[in-house]
Amino acid sequence: MDNFQYRNPVQIVFGNGQIAKLGELLPADAKILLTYGGGSIFKNGVYDQVKKALGGRQVVEFGGIEPNPEYATCMKAVELAKKEKIDFILSVGGGSTLDGSKFIAAAIKYPEGEDPWDILEKGAPIKEAVPIASVITLPATGSEMNAYAVVSRREKDQKLCLWSEKVFCRFSIIDPTTTFSLPPRQISNGIVDIFVHIIEQYATHPMGAVAQDRQAEALMLALIETAHWIKKDPQSYDARANLCWLATLAENGWINVGTAQCWMIHMIGHELTARTNTDHAKTLALVLPAAYRHQRRQKEEKLLQYAERVWGITGTDKDKVIDEAIQKTVDFFAEAGITPSRKEYGITDEVIKSVAAAVDARGEKFGDRANIGGKEIIEILNDTAE
Ligand code: NZQ
Ligand code: ZN
Repeated sequence: MDNFQYRNPVQIVFGNGQIAKLGELLPADAKILLTYGGGSIFKNGVYDQVKKALGGRQVVEFGGIEPNPEYATCMKAVELAKKEKIDFILSVGGGSTLDGSKFIAAAIKYPEGEDPWDILEKGAPIKEAVPIASVITLPATGSEMNAYAVVSRREKDQKLCLWSEKVFCRFSIIDPTTTFSLPPRQISNGIVDIFVHIIEQYATHPMGAVAQDRQAEALMLALIETAHWIKKDPQSYDARANLCWLATLAENGWINVGTAQCWMIHMIGHELTARTNTDHAKTLALVLPAAYRHQRRQKEEKLLQYAERVWGITGTDKDKVIDEAIQKTVDFFAEAGITPSRKEYGITDEVIKSVAAAVDARGEKFGDRANIGGKEIIEILNDTAE
């Protein structure tokens, strides 16, 4: 196990009716920028709950943050926030609204005259950010308890990540009842995204990290159980509550301390979404099987461990065991509602070539062994489901 430091400062306020706590959680004198997406919060009553809890506070609203939040939209919010001199951001919605809001929080404080896109493109440091908090309404990203944000710039075919301690939420309210209004497509997306978050921190190479491995396996098993539960009883509050908490636990940094992380599936997926606007989780479901077939030798020990401990598959023929485990994963995604298709998602040969060229041009290599460049990406994507 590698040396590590771990600190997660996010206060989680979890459960039915907890949006009402906003009044006591937020600083009384803050001028708040309330950010939201395309309007789901108006239809499901979340906006009304938030407004009621905010009481007489000064609030400026900014809506229209789209799925896969767009840089240009975020910069409009930055302009508004500077004009209105806001000093706190409250994000109400899914991971996209929250990721966009984290970037907005950093961009407001970015030095005048410099380009905040450098944070994403060049990894420029975030020295300061406006404090931020969230009401998360979609269990998927874990953004409510991590310091990542993913922002897109479609005119450049880019979808890039930032990580900074400065954009951790001060608190996140997770009320599972807000998820009852989610369309089935977003529940499917959430289940697959959570699963892939866990496995990308697990299917690497052995690091002697027994507790982290066992925690990841427990989360995968719990997610499989919860996905079946939600399918059987979509109106169950407890099933929703488990899904919400699994999303948070999967990507709050806890299971990857002192271990390797891969993220090749996510990185390739982001490139595909940047070019085709395919839902994040759908790109993951598409890439995972081919990526693990391609990396079967490099990931052999962990894929065999995954096969045995998560799916109960054992045997002496290692390739057969790994293939069966990959098939089980594909079947699980299908049961959750995602059967990916390159053609359906508009992933043409040109798109594949463009992804490979962009990754090579940036000099990047994905994966825990930093061995996935343009050539490997082409091989992987050509092996995905047509
Ligand atoms: O925009 P509104 O109208 O709110 O509707 C949204 C959106 O259309 C809707 N929605 C959200 N909560 C709802 C709801 N509809 C009804 N009832 C509710 N309670 O769902 C749609 C999708 O929302 P979005 O926020 O885009 O989904 P998600 O939370 O899956 O976020 C996806 C984004 O997060 C990034 C992805 O790449 C993508 O850009 N990720 C962020 C990560 C992070 N910060 O750690 C890690 C992930 O791997 C991921 O990359
Ligand atoms: Zn993800």
